Amino acid sequence: MRVKVAEHATLFYDRGSLVWDDYLHHRQYRISETAELLCRKFSQFTEIDELLAPLADPERVAVRGVVDELLAAGVLVVEGSTEHRTERALLAAWSSWGAGARHFHFASRTLSDDDYQDADEHDAALDSKLVDFPPPSPFARRGVAEVGLPELGAAPDWGDRGLFEVLLDRRTTREFGAEPLGVVELAHLLAILGGASPTRQRIGRTGTVFKTTPSGGGRHPIELYVHATRVDGLDPGWYHYDGRNHVLEPLGAVWGRAELARGAGDQDWIGEAAAVITYTGLLERTRWRYDTPRAYRVVQLDVGHLSQTAYLVATAMGLGVGFTAALRDELVERALGCDPTEEVVLGMTAIGPLPL
Ligand SMILES: Cc1cc2nc3c(=O)[nH]c(=O)nc-3n(C[C@H](O)[C@H](O)[C@H](O)COP(=O)(O)O)c2cc1C
Repeated sequence: MRVKVAEHATLFYDRGSLVWDDYLHHRQYRISETAELLCRKFSQFTEIDELLAPLADPERVAVRGVVDELLAAGVLVVEGSTEHRTERALLAAWSSWGAGARHFHFASRTLSDDDYQDADEHDAALDSKLVDFPPPSPFARRGVAEVGLPELGAAPDWGDRGLFEVLLDRRTTREFGAEPLGVVELAHLLAILGGASPTRQRIGRTGTVFKTTPSGGGRHPIELYVHATRVDGLDPGWYHYDGRNHVLEPLGAVWGRAELARGAGDQDWIGEAAAVITYTGLLERTRWRYDTPRAYRVVQLDVGHLSQTAYLVATAMGLGVGFTAALRDELVERALGCDPTEEVVLGMTAIGPLPL
C-alpha cells in the first residue's frame, strides 16, 4: 500500500509541541518525534513495507503501529483512496490562493455536526462575562486633538430620488472632479456610516448600539478614518472619526496623490478623489461575542455591508464613489497608527464630486 502525508493540513508549534491541524476535518493532533519523522519519509507516495523493510523486527512493529495510527487519523492518505481524490480536487481548486487562504477558509467553514448555542444558552454565556469582562465600546477615541464637524439636521438633502432609483444609479466611480467635497456632505456621510442611529436606543444586556448598517452580533467592529484631500474647511490629512461625539481626530499624517495611489495598490483614481474613508476592524469587539475563527469572516462581511451604505448614500448625494480592497495594508496601518494584531485594515471608499 502506497501512502503519503496529507496536504490539507498545517503544522504549528503550540506550547512546545508540534500540532497537526487538519483544517478540512477540524482535527488536531500533537505529533510525536517518530510521527514527525514518518511524515517526512512519506512526503511522496511510498510503499509502507518497502520503507520499513530495513528495520529490525521489534522496531518495525513499533513503527508500523505509528503508521497505522497516522493512517487512522488521516495524517497519511492511501494512494487512489477517496481521501486522496478529495485532496487532489481541493489542492487544484485552491492552488493559486495558497495554503493560507485554504487553511482559513476550511478552518472557519462549519461542519454538519458543529454545535450552535441556542438563544438562551448564548444569552447565559454573555451574562456570565458581563460583569468581569464587559463588551468593548462600539466607539473608539484616539485621544488626540479634535476638529468639530457641522451639526446636522435629521437627514441630508438628497433630492426626491427613491431607493430603487439610487440603487440603479449606483456605479463605481473612478473619475472625480477637481472641486472640493463640502464638509457638511462629509459630516453627513460619516454620521450615517459611523454614528449611532438616532431613532434606535442602545438596548439589552450587551449594550447593543444600532447603526444604519447591520453588524454581526450588533458588535460594530468597524472604525472609520478619513483622508481629507480636498474637503472645504478641513486641513488635508488623515483623521479618525469619533462616531460617539461626531468629531474628527487629526492623526498627523498627510498623504499626497502618489501616497494615496500607492496605499491603494497603485490605483491613481484613489488619489484623485476629494476624500477617502478607510475602514478598519477592531477584532476585540466581535471576538467578545463570538470566540471562534469564523467570526473573522463576520468582520469582513460587516465591511461589505458598510461599504454598500457608503455607496448608496454618496450616490443619493450626487457624489462619485468607489470601494477598493486592494490596499497596501502596512502603509495604511502606519498612517492610521493602528496595530494590525488588533485592528485590521479592511478597505477604502473614495468619494468626491463627479467631473463637471
Ligand atoms: C470588495 C470589493 C472590492 C473592490 N475593489 C476594487 C478595486 O480594487 N479597484 C477598483 O477599481 N474597483 C474595485 N471594486 C469595484 C468593482 O470593480 C465594481 O463594483 C464592479 O466593477 C462593478 O461595477 P459597479 O460597482 O459600477 O456596479 C471593488 C468592489 C468591491 C465590492
